[in-house]
Amino acid sequence: MPTPHISAQVGQIAPTVLMPGDPKRAERMAKQLFDQPQLVNAVRGMLAYTGVYQGKPLTVMGSGMGQPSIGIYSTELFKFYGVEQIIRVGTCGGISPKVKVGDTVIATSAHTDSNFNQNRIPGIVFSAASSFRLTQAAFLAAEEAKIPQEKLHVGTIVSRDHFYGTSKEQNEGLASYGVLGVEMESAALFAIAAEYGKEALTVLTVSDHLFNGEADMSAQEREELFQNSLKLALAAALA
Ligand code: HPA
Repeated sequence: MPTPHISAQVGQIAPTVLMPGDPKRAERMAKQLFDQPQLVNAVRGMLAYTGVYQGKPLTVMGSGMGQPSIGIYSTELFKFYGVEQIIRVGTCGGISPKVKVGDTVIATSAHTDSNFNQNRIPGIVFSAASSFRLTQAAFLAAEEAKIPQEKLHVGTIVSRDHFYGTSKEQNEGLASYGVLGVEMESAALFAIAAEYGKEALTVLTVSDHLFNGEADMSAQEREELFQNSLKLALAAALA
């Protein structure tokens, strides 16, 4: 049964979904991973492809930017398409001084400035956490891939509603609490997975840094480093 935002038939989407923000990246990933990628959604250009990777059916689908966008797609995938795991593979801005551009971040939970999870459980400040099982699988894969310890970070991130115009004071506060990076989707994704009793994980490449003032990466460097987070996300998908 197609939904307002996904035209795939039930059964055309695999139980495990890899979810980059950019639908064009989903297309590139599908071409990289699958011998015969099948296009299963193109509504609003939010491309989704299903294929088989190392014997396991997988779907790769864009989430768009921000919690409302990933909120719509993840809800529909969990609720109507029988999806069991969503693994976000994206980029983040570094916040902690320990984090450098090009490093890999495995998110254990996501703080947020958003109202998205505000009213889930009356009287409760919701803690949006990833699946331990998927987190562990990604971490073990990082060890196996010999990603150097100083280039791999496992911990909290923040999912903010604003890309532009954020305050220095807030950034410093987040850094002082050891927050690794900022992106715009995971707090919603983790909460929606919990709502439906499903699993979610986020693996990120640090594409820029809020304090270190390092030059942003070129498109080619970005792609090469993205392969590190993809490797970890795939290990979690196969776990
Ligand atoms: N802010 C929010 N999202 C991001 C950033 C950022 O600085 N970098 C990559 N994704």
